Amino acid sequence: TFTGVIAIDGPSGSGKSSVSRAVAQRLGLRYLDTGAMYRAVTLGAMLAGIDVEDQAAVEQYAHRMELFVPTDPQRQILVLEGRDITDEIRTPAVSLTVSAIATNLAVRRELITRQQQIVAAGRAIVLEGRDTTTVVAPDADVRILITADEDSRIARRTAELHAEVSSTTMAQTSSQISDRDRRDSTVASFQSAAEGVVTLDTSHLNLEQAIDAVLDIVRELP
Ligand code: C5P
Repeated sequence: TFTGVIAIDGPSGSGKSSVSRAVAQRLGLRYLDTGAMYRAVTLGAMLAGIDVEDQAAVEQYAHRMELFVPTDPQRQILVLEGRDITDEIRTPAVSLTVSAIATNLAVRRELITRQQQIVAAGRAIVLEGRDTTTVVAPDADVRILITADEDSRIARRTAELHAEVSSTTMAQTSSQISDRDRRDSTVASFQSAAEGVVTLDTSHLNLEQAIDAVLDIVRELP
């Protein structure tokens, strides 16, 4: 049985969260969704009435916020200052604002430190995000970049966000994810694999096949 660190990065809509969580569950590992932490700072700053463009104010907030980050893949309940924010961090308002927070380098330093502490607390873990293979855990035992062509990513995100997949909802989703990826790319490079990182293209894979592909990579470890 595998007991090490698996780091998985990828753009929005690549399916990396669903795949990572399922892999953690099957291998009995902990699971860390680093994107949820950026979303938590975003929501927290918005609720506290902090101007998200005010870099110093957001930095201070990130330092002092009391955030409980779950690592059980089956129980992803995020608690900020005693408040369950699990669902609230997924609202469009947070998705539209999160890049402003993620490009704040002081916030990144704070969250990366917290993420590295979580990894170090128990080792065996799957962590997932934009910079986990390169910055948070560059020494992970397995490092994977999950990609998917733009059409599949738009289709997946649209199905996640909207009850009805129509040309209108597809077009809305398309511009939202490409805007977010463009802003996110300025701080973390997740569009192409860094040295030593395995690329897994999931464009033509369903969830089950993508999970199997990751498990195969883990099994093939020397
Ligand atoms: O993965 P998810 O879409 O939930 O991530 C939300 C946002 O958090 C991303 O758009 C990005 O701005 C930020 N993020 C990041 N670094 C990570 C994970 C997420 O900057 N490792």
